[in-house]
Amino acid sequence: AFQPRVFSGIQPSGGLTLGNYLGAIKRFVDMQDDASFETIYCMVDLHAITVWQDPAELARNTRELCAGFIASGIDPEKSILFNQSQVPEHAQLAWIFNTVARMGWLNRMTQFKDKAGKNQENSSVGLFAYPALMAADILIYHATHVPVGEDQKQHVELTRDIAAKFNHDYGVDFFPITEPVIKGAATRVMSLRDGSKKMSKSDPSDMSRINMTDDADAIAAKIRKARTDPEALPSEAEGLKDRPEARNLVNIYAALADMDVDAVLSEVGGKQFSEFKPMLSDLAVSKLSPISGEMARLMQDASEIDTILRRGAERARELTVPILERTYEIVGL
Ligand code: ADP
Ligand code: NA
Repeated sequence: AFQPRVFSGIQPSGGLTLGNYLGAIKRFVDMQDDASFETIYCMVDLHAITVWQDPAELARNTRELCAGFIASGIDPEKSILFNQSQVPEHAQLAWIFNTVARMGWLNRMTQFKDKAGKNQENSSVGLFAYPALMAADILIYHATHVPVGEDQKQHVELTRDIAAKFNHDYGVDFFPITEPVIKGAATRVMSLRDGSKKMSKSDPSDMSRINMTDDADAIAAKIRKARTDPEALPSEAEGLKDRPEARNLVNIYAALADMDVDAVLSEVGGKQFSEFKPMLSDLAVSKLSPISGEMARLMQDASEIDTILRRGAERARELTVPILERTYEIVGL
């Protein structure tokens, strides 16, 4: 039996969005504070460079992401918090998994198709092989649970397939079959400009997302301009069925307020968006401005952040080195 251990990561490929916060980081904090789990959280810089990153900006984004984790409530004493490239066993196990994963499996990954678009021939091999590295990120800790947004479900399934094939091919019961943990009102926060696209730090339109560093005026302006429809809010979740933009704003409200959607609608049902949007902005500002304030404070001392990351990497390696050694033995390396 494997002990309950949580791993998850976020790419330092741009500033954190409200989607990352509600879909991932806020849930990471819940699991950290649940005594039944050991929690390990990572800035996945090796994933970020599957698409070219400006080197100075990558280093800055990595520190800012670390500040975002801490400001949101990740405690580097309670959780192991570190940067992927400082723990070389991730990349080493990823190579083994590149030999386990099948081309056909990776060919079915929808995120690669979304990110590469019409430009597949000119995408990096790393962007294609990304899910094998993600499997290594998780399995180098024997993690049993991975909190993620909806968009990562397919990659966690691939991680399970890789673990099962490795165990089968080598006749061992070495890697756990990891469970994705996808729950809450905000497992898929959508763009504020297009209800069919997820909110993402890589969307070219800044108006499509709320960044964790946005000030109160920017948050209010983005919510004011968010796409909606002309109807009033319904009083039950069922009434949001074919209204993706309206549903998104209600989901964001529910996740920020730690309420379920029906509880929100029983309070705001019947209101127009002209009334609901300012309520949502006030709530978002009250929850996010303490976090962005703390991020800015932490960013004033880069060496303090670097110390935290270095310590986190040392703690991570206490777990990864023996698991990689055992993996090599199993494979005959
Ligand atoms: P991004 O898509 O913003 O580059 P990452 O790929 O680094 O984000 O994802 C980090 C985590 O944030 C993952 O668990 C992912 O599922 C979650 N996440 C990203 N965007 C959203 C979103 N719009 N809604 C909910 N969760 C999200
Ligand atoms: Na993602």
